[in-house]
Amino acid sequence: MLFFRQSRALATSFRTLATTATHPADVAKPRILVTGSLGQLGIGLVSLLRQKYGNENVIASDIRKPSPEIKAQGPYVFADVLNMQQLETIVVDNDINWIVNLSALLSAVGEQNIDKALAINMTGFTNTLELARRHQLRIMCPSTIGAFGPTTPRDLTPDLTIMRPTTVYGITKVHVELMGEYYAKRFGVDFRSLRYPGIISSDTEPGGGTTDYAVQIFHSALKEKSYKCYLGPETSLPMMYLPDCLEGTVDFLAAPNHLLKQRTYNMAAFSFNPREIAAKIKERIPEFEMTYAPDFRQAIADSWPKSLDDSKARQDWGWKNKFDLDAMTDDMLTALKSHHK
Ligand SMILES: NC(=O)c1ccc[n+]([C@@H]2O[C@H](COP(=O)([O-])OP(=O)(O)OC[C@H]3O[C@@H](n4cnc5c(N)ncnc54)[C@H](O)[C@@H]3O)[C@@H](O)[C@H]2O)c1
Repeated sequence: MLFFRQSRALATSFRTLATTATHPADVAKPRILVTGSLGQLGIGLVSLLRQKYGNENVIASDIRKPSPEIKAQGPYVFADVLNMQQLETIVVDNDINWIVNLSALLSAVGEQNIDKALAINMTGFTNTLELARRHQLRIMCPSTIGAFGPTTPRDLTPDLTIMRPTTVYGITKVHVELMGEYYAKRFGVDFRSLRYPGIISSDTEPGGGTTDYAVQIFHSALKEKSYKCYLGPETSLPMMYLPDCLEGTVDFLAAPNHLLKQRTYNMAAFSFNPREIAAKIKERIPEFEMTYAPDFRQAIADSWPKSLDDSKARQDWGWKNKFDLDAMTDDMLTALKSHHK
């Protein structure tokens, strides 16, 4: 009952995002809570947000113990997205304006832990979305190419198309998109989501996705001069270098509402398959050899797009990648050489 009274009050005090230019979360110096901040994307995103908005204004959080270096960089709290009361206390006590929810189980790990993936990716997300409604926050939760499925058109997949994913990860991300858009329309919540492709990073470990091979291959090329790939040679997937992903996400978070014509956007940089990335590495490390032993991740990759149409993100809020495949390959090898000396 209380829920419905509060909802009605909010519904009348907000107008929908489509008709209003400003939102209570449109603040120049936001206080930001990042959940799942110790993962592949979170460490770099927190650091970039702190450069833009100030160290003290970005609260990092996760359910893991941070390293002393991470702790020294700025505020860190323990936050489990499944614990609504704990999350709400953090939001209220820290005057949070924006939540970036990065907590998730990714595609390959999710297939091995269905219950946990459903809990973290759906219940955990719903908790943060509900907090955004109660406290008039901006909320950003990434989606993925994994939200598409085998019946989706696979080349230059548009923003709006068939979405019948065949992994638990994909199903939970369709839930994120639909519930976020529902809360935006119904309650005026400033929900935003980007469908990331596979993300390639030099300084953080990937968390168990189907595209992790594109990071592992660089480490193996430098260490062992060889790599056994769990996807077949012709499996093309959309990919992006982490610095582009992070800069784009910071820009998207800061974009004024009137520029956003939709709440969920495709975001892409380039596509390649294992044979093509192996060839790029071989141009730079001639001894490198690739072998192939496809496992259960092949079926997941085969259900995903080969390339994305992200023209709406480019038009509406100015998304632009800096790194292409060659620039990313050079940068990865340079950055990783010091790790493998
Ligand atoms: N990395 C990619 O290639 C990629 C691609 C597409 C979308 N995404 C999305 O981007 C987001 C971040 O991905 P990532 O690669 O950094 O993932 P990751 O697996 O590296 O990190 C996820 C973090 O969530 C934390 N976490 C797990 N359970 C939690 C809980 N109950 N409460 C709070 N935190 C919890 C983990 O400890 C971990 O640090 C996810 O939503 C993911 O779906 C990532």
